[in-house]
Amino acid sequence: MAAIDAALGGILSRLATEGEITGKACECVPCLAPAGIAAKQLLVVGLGKREELDLGVIYRAAAAAAKTLAARKRTAVAFLADGSWSTRQLEHAVAGAAVGMVGQDIYRKDKKRTPFGTTIWLAAPADAVERGTHLGDGINLTRRLVNLAPDDMYPQAFADEASAVAGHLGIDIEVWDETRLAKERCGALLAVSRGSSRPPRLVIMRYRGPGRREGSPELALVGKGVTFDSGGLSLKPADSMMGMKCDMAGAATMLGTIATIAALKLPVDVVAAMGLVENMTGPAAYKVGDVLTARNGLTIEVHNTDAEGRLVLADVLDVVRGLEPGRIIDAATLTGACMVALGHDVAGLFSNNQASCDQLVAAAKTAGEPVWQMPMFRHYDPQIESDVADIKNVGDGRWGGAITAAKFLERFVGTTPWTHIDIAGPAFADKPKPWSDGGGTGVMVRSLVELVRGSPEETT
Ligand code: BES
Ligand code: ZN
Ligand code: ZN
Repeated sequence: MAAIDAALGGILSRLATEGEITGKACECVPCLAPAGIAAKQLLVVGLGKREELDLGVIYRAAAAAAKTLAARKRTAVAFLADGSWSTRQLEHAVAGAAVGMVGQDIYRKDKKRTPFGTTIWLAAPADAVERGTHLGDGINLTRRLVNLAPDDMYPQAFADEASAVAGHLGIDIEVWDETRLAKERCGALLAVSRGSSRPPRLVIMRYRGPGRREGSPELALVGKGVTFDSGGLSLKPADSMMGMKCDMAGAATMLGTIATIAALKLPVDVVAAMGLVENMTGPAAYKVGDVLTARNGLTIEVHNTDAEGRLVLADVLDVVRGLEPGRIIDAATLTGACMVALGHDVAGLFSNNQASCDQLVAAAKTAGEPVWQMPMFRHYDPQIESDVADIKNVGDGRWGGAITAAKFLERFVGTTPWTHIDIAGPAFADKPKPWSDGGGTGVMVRSLVELVRGSPEETT
């Protein structure tokens, strides 16, 4: 920064003195046609207060810069990180830049964002740039799948995308169709899919990193993949239905995560399972009062067909539990109640195992993604009891709805350490942010990859 300021004849320090450059996080101040350096434009990006600098601030600041510059076509953009950043910080900056230059304008002729012809990272080691690019690609994959129109992103379409990713990265993949799902007694997932003309799918991907060939996976990632949630016969009002293409964000998050883990060739054994259905109102739709038998044998009385995510996850959780993973993490746009509790930007965590949850909290803190653990007290359990079946798919009334949903899921994981991430709030941004145009956010991919990599102190 000092060298550039000197080359520019002290313009930057003058702008700072005049208050044009404040250094506020994500602030982008353009200096057009600067004399003294070769670039046609210099963009100064704020990183906020030094003591608040974390991987999230860095990721968002780089994304804000890329978003600003991608407003028009550019052949080459060079980034220069000021100061002595760690390789992990550089990686998250590179990922942020890759994410910021891609918008949600998939179907627009006149694009709002144009990715740069070339992105150059000055003074950054090539391997850090490569790893950051893999991370950015994983996040962009998640975002793109969420942003696609629901008529283009139905269960088989998701499975096709997953197969393509698996093919590129050498990940094993299995896709269960409706016949296999029936054979596997996935009665809860299948019930949800019955109202749709689009058949359900279960995608199971297994990545075994270098040196991991035997035994059970150390981690199972499970994602809710409701490619459109109309609410079913408990139909959503029009306003709430808008945006329900994002109801497969949990599945997209886990696909983006396992893709990144594989691209980084991390030395882990991970399985990712994504339950894919469309929740519709067709003639065969499941009904309120129906009693379903889940794969683990529990009977479930349906009180609301809009509480479908937990039914899909019930069977998927049971499938991965059978693989005896060291732990399970699921991500789901599960409840509006979680948004009521925590707002738009914070993911809710729910767990049956404090140590496992703590590790995820720590990884999210490192990544700079806000999460908050919610209670799982036993006294919530009676709320999902049913008079006619083992359990029902909603609690008593709306109160504590995010927790009663998690309590329902808990019944399908046995004693395996498990943490559920409710991303109903942060998975999709209705409004643009300085670092993003809105739409799918790819939230939690960075945290989950951090979790798998271990703390930066240990590995960099
Ligand atoms: N997909 C929704 C939850 C959701 C809401 C996701 C807003 C993203 C934004 C979920 O399937 C749902 O409809 N949940 C119901 C549960 C209720 C019927 C017990 C809800 O939250 O209202
Ligand atoms: Zn629903
Ligand atoms: Zn849903």
